[in-house]
Amino acid sequence: MRHILDGAIARRNFIASLGGAAVVGLMPHEARADALETALMAGVETPQSGMDPSSQSCSPGSIHFPTVAEIEAQVPTRSYRRAVGSLLLNTHPDGKVIQLAKMPARPTLWDFFELRFMKSRNHCLQSANKALQAGADEEVVLACLVHDTVQELIHTDHGFWGAQMYEPYLPARSTFAVRYHAALRFYTDAPAGYCYPNEYREIFGIDYVPPPHIESSYRFARAHRWYDAARAVTVNDLYSFDPKAVVKTDPFIEIVARHFKQPPEGLGNDDSASAHVWRTLANPDLPL
Ligand SMILES: [Fe+2]
Ligand SMILES: [Fe+2]
Repeated sequence: MRHILDGAIARRNFIASLGGAAVVGLMPHEARADALETALMAGVETPQSGMDPSSQSCSPGSIHFPTVAEIEAQVPTRSYRRAVGSLLLNTHPDGKVIQLAKMPARPTLWDFFELRFMKSRNHCLQSANKALQAGADEEVVLACLVHDTVQELIHTDHGFWGAQMYEPYLPARSTFAVRYHAALRFYTDAPAGYCYPNEYREIFGIDYVPPPHIESSYRFARAHRWYDAARAVTVNDLYSFDPKAVVKTDPFIEIVARHFKQPPEGLGNDDSASAHVWRTLANPDLPL
């Protein structure tokens, strides 16, 4: 299995895709993390180097980054804000969005996977598959299956957005895992099998210190009885990505059927607290 950011060429491609080193260096650290996840989900093919594809290390590395002021100066050069979800824009300079297929009258979670989660589904299916192979329980497999799908709508704070989106439909432990996986990405837990990725050291800087809201989220989750579930999402997350691998939905059909509270009237047509999120994903070309 190879990692999208294997080696120097891949890293250069990734940094170039974000607008160059000056832009990357000035992005807030969480934005870099989200940009990395977005790249992971996008499935961009990258040249392979000799770097260990599962490169993680509990010992620090080193990196040079530009200043925050230089990155902030790049914001007005873009035609969009970086929080905008993957389904909602094409970031290629000459790119256009595609005509989306109509959703069924009563859409299910799998309809969204097929027709709206085009950028996130491969990454999420691979994460869920890795969790399944590792013997994770079904609530954790479910969390892995959906953990980044909200990034089709919005990238910023995607753990919190994702948890709200799924809260009416999934077990509470699964949504807890979705909510806190984003903060836990920044904290090593070697006994659990998660060491801070070397790519993060290289991209975010060796001196990176997560801001207070990430730190407090981590501390809350770390002391919670469901910490294991949120940690499992990070363990099965970053390095589960292989752009060429296609994971079928079959292994997850029965798990979803057992736990996902599919509304009979269809996602978005029900009266849940997050129905509007599903409607927005179903109809992202409606202006109001
Ligand atoms: Fe994530
Ligand atoms: Fe992820």
